[in-house]
Amino acid sequence: MPGLTLGDTVPNLELQTTQGKKKLHDYIDDSFTIIFSHPGDFTPVCTTELGAMAAYADEFAKRGVKLLGLSCDDITSHAEWIKDIEAYNNGHKVTYPIATDPAREIIKQLNMVEPDEKDPSGNQVPSRALHIVGPDKKVLIKLSFLYPAGTGRNMDEVVRVLDSLQKTSKHKVATPANWKPGDPVVISPSVSNEEAKKLFPQGYKTADLPSKKDYLRFTNV
Ligand code: BEZ
Repeated sequence: MPGLTLGDTVPNLELQTTQGKKKLHDYIDDSFTIIFSHPGDFTPVCTTELGAMAAYADEFAKRGVKLLGLSCDDITSHAEWIKDIEAYNNGHKVTYPIATDPAREIIKQLNMVEPDEKDPSGNQVPSRALHIVGPDKKVLIKLSFLYPAGTGRNMDEVVRVLDSLQKTSKHKVATPANWKPGDPVVISPSVSNEEAKKLFPQGYKTADLPSKKDYLRFTNV
């Protein structure tokens, strides 16, 4: 993906949002923050996605995660559309700000431009991009999804990857395929067996592989 990507610092953009003006770094502060874009207001998949984000508000709050939506439509349009989102999604309130980007500058800077879709006036629109920014004041991108306009995102997966990011930021571990909270994790390859014994006194299990190499080590943290 060209442009802004994993490990990059998000630019400190000046944003107009449904909750007033915000400087992006001040908004993120020291929280994990999800910045997610959608192609346009009053469109079907987007209405379900922003409603799903609202419905998962407690899950995000439990994890100390802030949300920031973004599309190019203006604030008046966002405010009107929020009424539809809340009505369609059983009254779950859209408590997070939604930013506007009429000049299409923010979506370019955040690497969120959808290559195959244009709005009815022929302007660029955002893809279904989602950046999770880390909480360490360095405002680095820790994870990105980039979905096309036709494919809605899965909020269970968003929560799952947040759990993985939060776990792997605390311990020298990684989460294997299909991991979910409570499952064993794998010890990072940079950790020697000697160090692993000290870091994981609860013990770890090494998979018996044809190569007889000992790189696949499971533990619980
Ligand atoms: C939608 O939200 O349903 C949508 C928006 C733009 C292109 C395709 C689908």
